[in-house]
Amino acid sequence: MTGQPMLEQIEALRAEALAAVAVAGTPDAVRTVLGEHLGKKGRLQEVLRRIGSLAPAERGPVGQAANAARGAIEAAAEARERALREASESNLAESEWVDATLPGTRRPAGSIHPVSAMIREVEDVFLGMGFDLADGPWVEDDWHNFTALNVPPDHPARDLQDTFWLEDGNLLRTHTSPVQIRLMARGALPIRSVAIGRVFRNETTDATHEHTFHQIEGLLVDREVSVGHMVFVLRTFLREIFAQEVEVRLRPSYFPFVEPGFELDVRRGDAWLELLGCGLVHPRVLVAGGVDRSRYSGFAFGLGIDRLVLLRHGIEDIRHFTGGDLRFLRLFRWGGAR
Ligand code: PHE
Repeated sequence: MTGQPMLEQIEALRAEALAAVAVAGTPDAVRTVLGEHLGKKGRLQEVLRRIGSLAPAERGPVGQAANAARGAIEAAAEARERALREASESNLAESEWVDATLPGTRRPAGSIHPVSAMIREVEDVFLGMGFDLADGPWVEDDWHNFTALNVPPDHPARDLQDTFWLEDGNLLRTHTSPVQIRLMARGALPIRSVAIGRVFRNETTDATHEHTFHQIEGLLVDREVSVGHMVFVLRTFLREIFAQEVEVRLRPSYFPFVEPGFELDVRRGDAWLELLGCGLVHPRVLVAGGVDRSRYSGFAFGLGIDRLVLLRHGIEDIRHFTGGDLRFLRLFRWGGAR
């Protein structure tokens, strides 16, 4: 046998291998092509196994051709494999590309209603002064809301204009003062309590009047309670809420359930701001609550929470509070525009 057919076979094998390498789509496919052509049981090996049948003089050129073919195929395979890896890396960079400068997805966050936030704050202040928290029903009876509070049957506060009367003769409480009666009726003395909650008035609404709003009621009943005690507690409370010293003044005023009764004003710059009603618990109210008026006295106060929130945030319309407009509520998302 001459070397010529073997040289041709090697040449053909080299061309086929290079073509197969060129179209291999993955590094693994390249290595498969290499194994098929150059491996121990590969096609080149098959050709070379017959080299012994050649005349010695013809073996050299066949061996050299085989080595050259092997070198060329290996070089092509290596280049192809590198090109494939680089391409897949840049594909990855392309497909996994992230623009870190894009704005993130905004998740809608809830917010604490400004009135709720104020309620919590007020509760904290009174708890800090040794008061406890009381509560009472929104649907009240005439006795707790009026009669026991020394509101006589012909008093204008019972006017149908002001009170939401229910068909069964009960009513929606018009203030938190009925909680005073409930606290005294429990029979435990002394009393140091605040009750914060909704109250309802059958009024035409405008920027400063709502049919539903929130009040803080305070009641302290103990031995020898004076107006001085009351002023101290109220001034301490207001100092905490306004986060500064406050100047207050009392103006005599009339509420059926206190005697003497006052309006307490807070100084704001040159103006005095009417803030709350207060006074010493009327002896008739003590009696209605079952308290021994010869041994105990007390003070009570009541004020609107909504008013405090309006003042703090400079809000102009109280109807925002129950209006349910999310744009308003979102203003308070981070604890409020304080
Ligand atoms: N209940 C009164 C009101 O609604 C406020 C008040 C409470 C006044 C306690 C004096 C004492 O206006």
